Amino acid sequence: LATAATALALSVTATAGFAACEEGEIVVKFAHVTNTDKHPKGIAASLLEQRVNDEMNGTMCMEVYPNSTLYNDDKVLEAMLQGDVQLAAPSLSKFEKFTKQFRLFDLPFMFKNIEAVDAFQASETGQAMKDSMQRRGLQGLAFWHNGMKQMSANKPLLEPSDANGLKFRVQSSDVLVAQMEAIGGSPQKMAFSEVYGALQQGVVDGQENTWSNIYGKKFFEVQDGITETNHGIIDYLVVTSVDWLDSLEPDVRDQFLTILTEVTETRNKESYSVNQAAKKSIIDAGGVIRELTPEQRQAWVDAMKPVWEKFAGDVGQEKIDAAQSINA
Ligand code: LMR
Repeated sequence: LATAATALALSVTATAGFAACEEGEIVVKFAHVTNTDKHPKGIAASLLEQRVNDEMNGTMCMEVYPNSTLYNDDKVLEAMLQGDVQLAAPSLSKFEKFTKQFRLFDLPFMFKNIEAVDAFQASETGQAMKDSMQRRGLQGLAFWHNGMKQMSANKPLLEPSDANGLKFRVQSSDVLVAQMEAIGGSPQKMAFSEVYGALQQGVVDGQENTWSNIYGKKFFEVQDGITETNHGIIDYLVVTSVDWLDSLEPDVRDQFLTILTEVTETRNKESYSVNQAAKKSIIDAGGVIRELTPEQRQAWVDAMKPVWEKFAGDVGQEKIDAAQSINA
């Protein structure tokens, strides 16, 4: 019976696509919510898994659970504090229960592109933000890039007034709620895994996301079109629990963190091109993409930017100024 049970366990592990973890290895479960290919986070997570399993074989073993197969982003941080999962990379919009500092990244039109985000994160102020949740038991390890957000709905969006009265799905961020209200929309916080169904069934009319997420989860199939607004960003924090990190032997921790740093550097450089490839795939699949004239884009800036004032207190004016000086 024992042999049959072992064989079954092995075959289940094999089906899930994991290198079977050996006895004595430190098992690192990494839960995330996106697809794995043509996606900056999906690709980076798979590369991290492969490198840890190759280079730390016998010591550490990583299992990546993509596509919300283990946890949604709204559950994963609690699960991490319980010790049920060791690694996650939620978008910076999903840390509101733990810190208000990341609200900076959600403010519309704060960063002109991902290079500006990268430069801000690399600064002393940006690096210090990784430690902002230590008191709450979470340790940020690295920022991973996705890209600029675009708007989509079940009707063409060219002027901000086109969004008037529409229901929009947003990530769990009060800044994004305020942003959608600023254009006359009615925002609804919702887990990523529920968005496709909600768009399809008309529970919401529209959403905002990066090309890689719009392609990866096929949102373009259930929307009239996507407007290239580049009005905000989606970026991630690779995060673990303070307790888990402390539990590692120093040399094991160093090796793991070195691999993570290398994967971060390699993959962050590619995030723009991964999103551009996803954009092309949307066009190839028959999705409609609309561009804005400079005047139309300015109207979106004028409608959304007043949101900054509301959150300047949470974020800190000095951080807003630092981000803006990078854009200049
Ligand atoms: C979303 O919920 O739209 C994104 O945060 C998903 C992701 O991880 O990119």
